[in-house]
Amino acid sequence: MIRVLFVCLGNICRSPTAEGIFRDLVENAGLQDAVEVDSAGTSDWHIGGAPDQRGQAVARSRGIELGQLKARQVCPDDFKEFDYVIAMDSSNHKNLSTLCPAGHEPRLRMCLSFVPNSPISDVPDPYYDDGFDHVFELLEAAGQGLLSEIRAAHNL
Ligand code: 4NP
Repeated sequence: MIRVLFVCLGNICRSPTAEGIFRDLVENAGLQDAVEVDSAGTSDWHIGGAPDQRGQAVARSRGIELGQLKARQVCPDDFKEFDYVIAMDSSNHKNLSTLCPAGHEPRLRMCLSFVPNSPISDVPDPYYDDGFDHVFELLEAAGQGLLSEIRAAHNL
């Protein structure tokens, strides 16, 4: 099993959207028995909470249901359980670096590094500016790139 964890600050906007999109891509590829997907936040602010209603609405309009997801906080053991720990922005990456057990650093990656020639490296935080459509599109592109990398790396 290959395990993928998407991480943002609150685990209610970007990372649950990434989780829902990537799970859909994995299922459409028939790889649900080979690839497992989860998401978490660096903060404890929204533990147990559902994804932001604005993000749920954008995802639902594109056929992805996020309402069942519940926020949780990332922990050091996540680096042992997940092969890919994917940060949404450089602030998340910095916080994750300090949690990461020695030797597991290669598992930590930036989300938009999976988008070929991306002009930006951070997925913008949509919480205050309502940019959920833009975020959805970035995460769809990143998910496609990530799935291609996983398929190539693991002969799937
Ligand atoms: P996320 O967005 O990290 O993409 O889930 C945020 C959610 C909540 C807050 C900030 C960002 N907040 O300040 O509560």
